[in-house]
Amino acid sequence: MLQGTLTGMTDQLIPTRRAFPADDPIFALNAEAVARKAAGESILNATVGALLDDSGQLVVLDSVMDLWRDLTALEIAPYAPIAGDPAFLKALVKRHWPQLDSAGAACATPGGSGALALSLRNFLEPGQTLLSTAPFWGPYATLATENGMHLATAPWPAVGQALDGAAWDAALRNLMKTQGRVLLWLNDPCHNPTGRSLSTADRAVLSGLLREVSALGPVTLLLDFAYLDYTREPGAVAAALEDYAALGAEGRVLVGASLSLSKSMTLYGARCGALAFPWCGDPALQAALTQSCRGTWSNCAKAPQSLLLRLAKDGKAQARLAAEHRHWSEVLAARASALDAALEAEGMDALHWQGGFFVTVPAADPGAASGRLKAEGVYTVPLPEGLRVGLCALRPIEAPRFAQALRRAAAR
Ligand SMILES: Cc1ncc(COP(=O)(O)O)c(C=O)c1O
Repeated sequence: MLQGTLTGMTDQLIPTRRAFPADDPIFALNAEAVARKAAGESILNATVGALLDDSGQLVVLDSVMDLWRDLTALEIAPYAPIAGDPAFLKALVKRHWPQLDSAGAACATPGGSGALALSLRNFLEPGQTLLSTAPFWGPYATLATENGMHLATAPWPAVGQALDGAAWDAALRNLMKTQGRVLLWLNDPCHNPTGRSLSTADRAVLSGLLREVSALGPVTLLLDFAYLDYTREPGAVAAALEDYAALGAEGRVLVGASLSLSKSMTLYGARCGALAFPWCGDPALQAALTQSCRGTWSNCAKAPQSLLLRLAKDGKAQARLAAEHRHWSEVLAARASALDAALEAEGMDALHWQGGFFVTVPAADPGAASGRLKAEGVYTVPLPEGLRVGLCALRPIEAPRFAQALRRAAAR
């Protein structure tokens, strides 16, 4: 084909779709770091968003891969039901809330991203505004834009600070006043990108505000549970889940969860997850979710759903998986501790990681600091609030180099 034919095609693209960056910004930074490393430079790449071991290899959980290898043709090849296998949905919800007997209104989705996207289409009108936290996982903004919506934020607490109840109250009431409904995406516990969770007191304040605003119009709280299995504090994660279950069971705020097999099972590429509202059995909500699935991806991959069903019936596999999660949580905790020690040795504040794959270092001008770090071969992801560092890929021995480069970058 002639080059001219290829370059002349953009007239067909509608005007609003012509000015996007060629690549996702995080993937682009990662690609740059990988290319420099391949060319022989000593690169510290903290942009990665998947769990790597200390030799830089992708971690794939053995307990999960053993189940995957046992899948039969009929557990892989057929279509799954449009809204997902009901037994899969129940098993996935019970991983988080074992006391529940039903997934409620729920559907399978391609990862947590699919669940987030479907929540937008079912709980907001085009042109309305979603509420989340600052900072947030960057693709939240992309998901909102792709669905013709806006994103507003309220602050995630800084280290050692309480939730800013006044700012949250104002954000919730403002949205309720202007659009008559609220959808909140909350990546708690184990928040990406701060690596910290809300405290019990923060959660009580936020729940109280959500209850109050729900008296004025419909409020949906969607919990994004991407990282729950990787934590320094499993007891605190369990307590958070109970708090949210209590809020959901009251029935005033519609509480749902975006669930994913990407990190929990290291099945990133299998694209499996769910959107579930365990305390809502409304047939109209179920019908809306099923309709969204049919009109978006028709149905989701069967193999990972089958795998989760095998896991739910296999106590030994569950114990192996739990041991693997414990091991990798300890690896992440050791990396977080090494980073905190290195930051403190350079006169900076510790970050106090509690869970997830990331921490965020505050920076006055994150864009400039990231540029200076890149010049030293250190790659982070600049956010408006600071620099995101992937603990999931940072070896403890790299922590001093990171902290020294950061001090130099911040000092200028
Ligand atoms: C906070 C958060 N939510 C959701 C996701 C979605 O991941 P997936 O669609 O692979 O489940 C990610 C992935 O990085 C994430 O960090």
